[in-house]
Amino acid sequence: MLTQQELKQQAADAALALIEPVLGPDVVIGVGTGSTADLFIDGLARYRGRLRGTVASSERSAARLAGHGLAVLDLNDVAAMPVYVDGADEIDARLHMIKGGGGALTREKIVASVARRFICIADESKLVERLGSFPLPVEVIPMARQAVARALAALGGQPRLREGYTTDNGNLILDVAGLQIDDAPGFEAAVNDLPGVVTCGLFARPGADVALLATQNGIRRLERP
Ligand code: 5RP
Repeated sequence: MLTQQELKQQAADAALALIEPVLGPDVVIGVGTGSTADLFIDGLARYRGRLRGTVASSERSAARLAGHGLAVLDLNDVAAMPVYVDGADEIDARLHMIKGGGGALTREKIVASVARRFICIADESKLVERLGSFPLPVEVIPMARQAVARALAALGGQPRLREGYTTDNGNLILDVAGLQIDDAPGFEAAVNDLPGVVTCGLFARPGADVALLATQNGIRRLERP
């Protein structure tokens, strides 16, 4: 029986095998945040001489990449990336995701938006029928915290401030419990439309292009329908 850590390692290794053919001296890889992304970063170190560099979705990942001697580039200096590789807190069969358990949702969404393909890496426990059991992270401008919390409650959620936490962008996170999200693109748009919200952790417009989900029987690969 493989541990969750071993499953995460398998997912990270599968992503490295998938991106290996696209590596080259001009290639920049978008890199996510979290414990699964950390394993991907550690593996990417083996390919150090075979890519131009990376764009990180958090200060945490930037430090880990730099620690391996991988170049970390400013997104403003990068016009295109073939892939963005990151984990998820929940993913469904349509490859819609909840992300932001690590608080990096906004930069993750920005870097992913510049990449041609989003490769989601996770152990199979992240695959759900319906998104919402994992509280939805929402990054908010500090002055809007209470106003956004009231609006999220009106949308049916139970928002709770992530105590003592500030994002890399100097903002706050509200974690919204009690949601059962049937229309992820619609709910993502509704939350992102609230004044004071920077972005929410729904990644459905679009979601991932490919999910590499590690199971006890090997990698299960899902493509966006
Ligand atoms: C960070 C994220 C992560 O991808 C998500 O929390 C999954 O993390 P892990 O790989 O540690 O389970 O969105 O903001």
